Amino acid sequence: MSILPLQKIGKLDRMETASVDELRHEQLQRLRWSVTHAYTNVPFYRHAFDEIGLKPMDINSLDDLAKIPFTTKSNLRDNYPFGMFATPMSDVVRVHASSGTTGKPTVVGYTQGDIDNWADIVARSIRAGGGHRGDKVHISYGYGLFTGGLGAHYGAERLGCTVIPMSGGQTEKQVQLIKDFEPDIIMVTPSYMLNIADEFDRQGIDPHKLPLRLGIFGAEPWTNSMRAELEERLGIQALDIYGLSEVMGPGVGMECLETKDGPTIWEDHFYPEIIDPNTGEVLPDGEYGELMFTSLTKVALPILRYRTRDLTRLLPGTARPMRRIDKITGRSDDMLIIRGVNVFPTQIEEQVLKCQALAPHYEIEVYKEGNLDCVDIRAELKAGAGTGDDVRANAARELSHHIKSYIGISARVEVVEPNRLARSEGKAKRVIDRRTQ
Ligand code: DLL
Repeated sequence: MSILPLQKIGKLDRMETASVDELRHEQLQRLRWSVTHAYTNVPFYRHAFDEIGLKPMDINSLDDLAKIPFTTKSNLRDNYPFGMFATPMSDVVRVHASSGTTGKPTVVGYTQGDIDNWADIVARSIRAGGGHRGDKVHISYGYGLFTGGLGAHYGAERLGCTVIPMSGGQTEKQVQLIKDFEPDIIMVTPSYMLNIADEFDRQGIDPHKLPLRLGIFGAEPWTNSMRAELEERLGIQALDIYGLSEVMGPGVGMECLETKDGPTIWEDHFYPEIIDPNTGEVLPDGEYGELMFTSLTKVALPILRYRTRDLTRLLPGTARPMRRIDKITGRSDDMLIIRGVNVFPTQIEEQVLKCQALAPHYEIEVYKEGNLDCVDIRAELKAGAGTGDDVRANAARELSHHIKSYIGISARVEVVEPNRLARSEGKAKRVIDRRTQ
C-alpha cells in the first residue's frame, strides 16, 4: 500500500478552529488511513487483527475503535528494536528511545514527514502557551534519546523562535545563560525548574527582574500547588505540556494560556480514550481511568490504542474544540498501595506544599516491617524558615498530620536542613520502593 502524504489528509492548524463535527469527521478519515497503514505494514498489527477476524474496513466509525486490541509497552519491547516500524529503515530519519526501569528500551522512529509534523505540533503547543516568533526559548529538557530536548527544539525553531539548546545539567551555567541571554520562555521538567530556581537564590539573582515570562513544564506528574509555587517564585506563567515517546514525544497535548485548565489533546493527530485499567472497558468522558491513544497521522510508527498507564480523565474542550485531560494523577505503575490505601506521589506533593516551613523537595521511601507496609517521607526545610531541631520537628509533625488527615496513611516524616535532598536534573525520582528491590 502506498502511504498517503499528510498534505492530502488535511492542513494542520485548520483543525484548531474547526467545529467538533468537522473534527470528528476528519478524525474518522485519518483513523481509517492509520488503521489500514498499520495493518498493511506492521506484522504485529496484521496478526493481532487476523487473530480476531478484524479487517481495517470494519472500522467505519470512531466507536469501532473499541474493536481493535490494545497495544502495550511490552508489545514494543517484544518487537525490539525496529519491529513495529511501518516503513523501510531507509525512510526513517530519526529514532528515539525511552529507557524504562527494566530490560530493553522502547524504540520509536520517525520519517521526515513525522518530524515535520511533530515540529508543527510543538510549534502549535508553544503558540498555545502564548509563545511567538522572535521569542527566545531556553530548552533544558535533555537532548539525546529522550524526546524532550529535540522535540522542543524543532518545534520552537518551527515557530520562529531563537532556541538556546542548553539540555539538562550544569545548573550554575543554566542560571548564567538565563541571566545573560534573557530568554522569554523556558522548557524543562518542573522538578528541574525548582532546582534552577534554588540556584537563582544561591547566586543572588531575582528571576522576577528577568524577561522570562513562560515555563512549559512536563515529562513528569506535577500538581497545581507546584504550579502556584513556580509561578510565584519565578514570576512566570507555568503551563503543562504532555506527551510520551511511543505516541510522539512532547506536544501530544498542551495547556492553553487563556484557560490554564489542563492540556488540550491535539486530537487531530492523537485520538484519546479512557479505559478502566482493570477491565479494559471504555469509560465515558469525565470518568477517571487510564489514558490511551491511537495515532492518526504517524507514518513510521503508527500506534493503535496504546495504553499509556497515565491516570486522568477527558474533559470537554474550552479554548479549542479538542478535548482536554485533567492533571495526570500519576502512572498506574507509580501507585503505591500502603496498607490497602492507594497513594500517588502527587498527593504527597500537595501536602508538602501546604506546609509554610517546607521547600517543595521530597522523597518517599516504602519498605516492609514484618508484613506491614511502611512509608518514610523526607522533606526539606525552606531556607529562612528557621533553624534547629524544634523547627524541623514542628514541620515534620505538621506534614505528618496533613498526610494522615488528607490521604489516610501514617507516615514517618523526617525534615532535613535546606539543600540536603538530591535534586533533579530531568525527571525526578520521588519514590524508593524497597519492597520491590
Ligand atoms: O516525557 C515526553 C515529554 C518530554 C513530555 C517533555 C513533555 C515534555 P517519555 O520519556 O516517553 O516522554 O515519558 C512519558 O512521562 O507517559 C507520563 O507518565 C509522563 N509525562 C509526560 N508529560 C507529563 C505531564 C516524555 N505533563 C511519560 N504530566 C508519560 C504528567 C507526564 N506526566
